[in-house]
Amino acid sequence: MADMGTPEHVGIIMDGNGRWAKRRLLPRLAGHRAGMKRMLALLEHIYGCGVKCVTVFALSAENLSRPKDELDGLFALFREYFSTQTERLSEKGIRLRVIGDRGLIPADIVSLIKEGEEKTAKGERATLAIAIGYGGRQDIVAACNKAVRAGREVTLKSFAETLSTGGMPALDLLIRTGDEKRLSNFLLFEAAYAELIFSTKMFPDYTDGDFDEALKEYAARERRFGALHPADRT
Ligand code: IPE
Ligand code: IPE
Ligand code: MG
Repeated sequence: MADMGTPEHVGIIMDGNGRWAKRRLLPRLAGHRAGMKRMLALLEHIYGCGVKCVTVFALSAENLSRPKDELDGLFALFREYFSTQTERLSEKGIRLRVIGDRGLIPADIVSLIKEGEEKTAKGERATLAIAIGYGGRQDIVAACNKAVRAGREVTLKSFAETLSTGGMPALDLLIRTGDEKRLSNFLLFEAAYAELIFSTKMFPDYTDGDFDEALKEYAARERRFGALHPADRT
């Protein structure tokens, strides 16, 4: 069950699929397939730990510059995912949201996404947000433009609500696999006070146990949000 030490909202940058495949002399797409398989099982585990909201970085806006072959393969995987998984999400009470620029992805996938979001809209147990064609900076600019069009100044609260993650709990924990220590344009505004954990493992090798370790580390950290260390408070 969730307690004070359990993050409400976890972000995952699933990176390292390509290198995982390369090390096995497999095509990159085999790495993406293995990554998707791992993510399906890992999500079950994460929700089982009491986490209410997970945002997964599946494809960045910048990833759209990758070779057509790789993108076609990734889009085929997304098609497969949305055609086979949204029913299961709905049965489990998990609400699906897809964030990112839909203009960057094929129209038939956008239709599948809309169907999936409608089918799961009543899910109250947890939320799964999948970031596809997503960029944190782009999302901030889009939110700014909305405010400009509405002719209104924003507050921190109203601005956060205008982002594509609006309505989700604050991001508590951000995990990046793939042995890189950067955000690569993921949830930039939202990550302001998130705890960051970087794993050297390539995503297909990231186990449920690795996530348990991350939860332990998260629970042991002291989140101060700019306030004093408790020992120095009077
Ligand atoms: C992450 O894996 C998934 C996507 C970006 C689509 P990569 O494809 O970036 O894998 P590496 O970083 O090349 O190993
Ligand atoms: C970030 O990984 C995007 C996703 C995991 C979807 P990248 O592989 O694109 O990041 P960089 O290029 O190493 O920064
Ligand atoms: Mg990468």
